[in-house]
Amino acid sequence: MEKKEIEHISILKKEVVEGLRVAGNKKFIDCTFGLGGHAKEILKKLGEKGMILAFEYDNELFKLVKKKFSREKRLILVNESFSNLLRVVREKKFFPVSGILADLGIGNFQIEKKKGFSFRRNEELDMRYNPEKQKERAKDVLNTRNEKELEQIFKKYGQIKVAKDLARKIIEKRPIKTTFQLKEILFDFQNKEKKIVRKVFLALRLATNRELENLKDFLEQTILVLEKGGRLAVITYHSLEERIVKHFLRQKRKFLKILSKKPILPSFSEVQKNKKARSAKLFLAERK
Ligand SMILES: C[S@@+](CC[C@H](N)C(=O)[O-])C[C@H]1O[C@@H](n2cnc3c(N)ncnc32)[C@H](O)[C@@H]1O
Repeated sequence: MEKKEIEHISILKKEVVEGLRVAGNKKFIDCTFGLGGHAKEILKKLGEKGMILAFEYDNELFKLVKKKFSREKRLILVNESFSNLLRVVREKKFFPVSGILADLGIGNFQIEKKKGFSFRRNEELDMRYNPEKQKERAKDVLNTRNEKELEQIFKKYGQIKVAKDLARKIIEKRPIKTTFQLKEILFDFQNKEKKIVRKVFLALRLATNRELENLKDFLEQTILVLEKGGRLAVITYHSLEERIVKHFLRQKRKFLKILSKKPILPSFSEVQKNKKARSAKLFLAERK
């Protein structure tokens, strides 16, 4: 049987390429390569001697795209977290950098292929992007933290109002091993809190992968990496990411000029074609 290729429709593609002012033989960094949709668009506009340094932390996805893009000489792909931006840039002697893109969160590869990311399949609650580098799975978070810590995770990463009761229930029902086992527990809370399944899965993903902490570390390093006039483009998908990016841009006015007062949103027609685009917000800034 033929294997179905996973597709990911890249969001705000045109706006990203324009926002980064991609042209000529310059150097760009794609911090979240995914299936390479944005990078392909950047490559189209780059000259023969232009280069992209791309980060993809997911080890399985990295192997797949490394092979798929092996002929592209203008691309350096690394299986690293973007929280190591500065170290990798130095190791690769990749400067001056004209633009950095981060298209945050998960893509279709994780939803369709990686264990535990989707609440629609019954499987082990894993949720690690990179099991070769990360020890703790989402189920370990649930099974080893104390009640107070779980409550904090649900509050901080999921903005869950019933966090306290939920933490108590989790402790009572432990050990929890699978996505459906967790969903069954959440069933009792559905009347008290809207979208509880989504919120808890997001909270667990953020905690397991330290996503918000990595985002903060990464943003700080962009200032050190971008050349004067270089541009930063960040696409966020939920309010916690958005808050961090906004706060960072406000704090760093001395180093970065905010290019649009309000974030750029996908057009109505893009959202109609791609439901996942509806929560996307693009933030653009320029290094002073
Ligand atoms: C929204 S997808 C990117 C899609 C991509 N722009 C495209 O057009 O195909 C986000 C990607 O970032 C990766 N990722 C998540 N956290 C990361 C991190 N800390 N460092 C590097 N990549 C990360 C995920 O594995 C995922 O493939």
